[in-house]
Amino acid sequence: MYLIGQTLNMGFDQYHEPPKELSEETRTIARMLVSLIEEAEAINWYEQRMSVEKDPQAKAIMENAQQEEFKHFGMDLEFLLRKKEKWRTTLKEILFKEGDIVKLGEKGEQKAD
Ligand SMILES: [Fe+2]
Repeated sequence: MYLIGQTLNMGFDQYHEPPKELSEETRTIARMLVSLIEEAEAINWYEQRMSVEKDPQAKAIMENAQQEEFKHFGMDLEFLLRKKEKWRTTLKEILFKEGDIVKLGEKGEQKAD
């Protein structure tokens, strides 16, 4: 993993262990984690573009495009959470809840242990 300009470039370097030693499932998870990162990057790019765009129509198109990236991020995340039970258990305690986020995180971590 390395940075080119502001872009996280993982490409075939997404593996930190010899790919041939990794299971098919681990390679799928690695690809989906990279996809999740790319969707978060796209959300960030649109957020910044919208903040400086003066043309309302252009801004509306960017907002629509960012909405697509929310969906992509959510689908990637849900896929990963279906594969990683402890991650899912942790996030169940954090996401869509009111209250102190750090405390919810600690509760989620305890539940997953
Ligand atoms: Fe996307």
